[in-house]
Amino acid sequence: MATLWHGRFEGGPSEALQALNNSLAFDRRMFREDVDGSRAHVRMLARVGLMSATDADSVLEALDTTEAELSDGSFTFVVSDEDIHTAVERRVTELAGEAGARLHTGRSRNDQVATDLRLWTLRELTDLSALVTSFQDTLASRADDAGEAYLPGYTHLQQAQPVLLAHQLLAHGWALSRDVDRLLDARDRADVSPLGAGALAGSSLPLDPDSVAADLGFAARFENSLDAVSDRDFVAEALFALALLGVHLSRIGEELVLWSTDEFGFVDLDDAFSTGSSMLPQKKNPDIAELARGKAGRLVGHLTGLLTSLKGLPLAYNKDLQEDKEPLFDACDTIRLTLLALDGMVSTLVFQTDRMAEAADSPYAAAIDLAEHLVAAGMPFRDAHAVVGALVRAALAGEGSLADLVAADERLGPEAADLLDPGTAVRRRTTPGGAGPGPVAIQRDRFSEQLAAQRTRLLA
Ligand code: ARG
Repeated sequence: MATLWHGRFEGGPSEALQALNNSLAFDRRMFREDVDGSRAHVRMLARVGLMSATDADSVLEALDTTEAELSDGSFTFVVSDEDIHTAVERRVTELAGEAGARLHTGRSRNDQVATDLRLWTLRELTDLSALVTSFQDTLASRADDAGEAYLPGYTHLQQAQPVLLAHQLLAHGWALSRDVDRLLDARDRADVSPLGAGALAGSSLPLDPDSVAADLGFAARFENSLDAVSDRDFVAEALFALALLGVHLSRIGEELVLWSTDEFGFVDLDDAFSTGSSMLPQKKNPDIAELARGKAGRLVGHLTGLLTSLKGLPLAYNKDLQEDKEPLFDACDTIRLTLLALDGMVSTLVFQTDRMAEAADSPYAAAIDLAEHLVAAGMPFRDAHAVVGALVRAALAGEGSLADLVAADERLGPEAADLLDPGTAVRRRTTPGGAGPGPVAIQRDRFSEQLAAQRTRLLA
């Protein structure tokens, strides 16, 4: 078998080496980026006089053919195709002969793979950011449907204070906005071309990395050739942004799991987005929500796996770096599948707003309103807290309903007891960013502005 290094070696590679070393099985999905990088490299070689115009044309034509074969599945891989870079160069040389053998002039797979993976990451982070934004649209439109429906807000998973359902949905929406920011920040820092760094030190040939960077649409070229071929910060950053996004989707998933139980009964899931049981005929299971929760573990694993691979490496390229692609590809695939399914689930589920209101209308959920009523009349908050706490304790001890005890208390009285009426507490959350109808209407407008700003940045 002819390797890329056959000139230096007498013997060929063992099967065990090939099995461990080959990355074709996963890096072939970067074939478009590999071909694009090669096109830009060839055009530069022609511009600086390292390749004749005729040779460049035949290599570009061979690259077109290679790309077409790879995309329609007619490309035949051979055993010596160690990775996608080797496969493309081998095929181009078959098609273009001696001109093809000039393709790798001044280039190494070290700067080539870094270029391919950056191009792949730039596109993927943009696509995933658009998908997250669509899911945010769904949350916003479900928030609009929700009107003034309210449910208990929880701390420690204990009922705390009522909140508008729209507020709860938009809380998830804002977290996803930070995810999009992070994905696009990672994209911006990935937007640097490593091509022209060579194996590690640049070249004696008159290469022009600036024009290659511009040709490929990168914002800039590398500043240091050693850094260019070693740097996988962009993979680590993408994996972190995806892991945190996964954690946010997990949190949504966990709420939907709880909300769809008989005990909560806050949502009914659509048949198309839930599963049944092979044994128990009555079951309807929230598998999508559970997988959104479960996949987060895998995403966190990809981040820690990559950081662990990177931490022992000296400069510059080390084969360990080949371990960057599988976690990145899998993290992107996982997030895409999860987002699409969760979006479908959230779009189609039915909110049981009567159940939510019933759960939120416990008079105890308005206890803070009683304390705030006393504060408004001049009582220090700590004293007000103690007064209301004592009434709650008395009500729980069976001395009367909280409303009756409040009405009978000289510091509070019947007017204060009205604060315990169903639906009153949530309407009294009036401060900026708060959970009541006034601030939520303003928040909703701001969320639309946020989504518009995200879209503008996505197109940039
Ligand atoms: N398949 C390799 C990778 O993914 C390409 C770079 C190989 N470079 C080398 N010097 N062997 O990292």
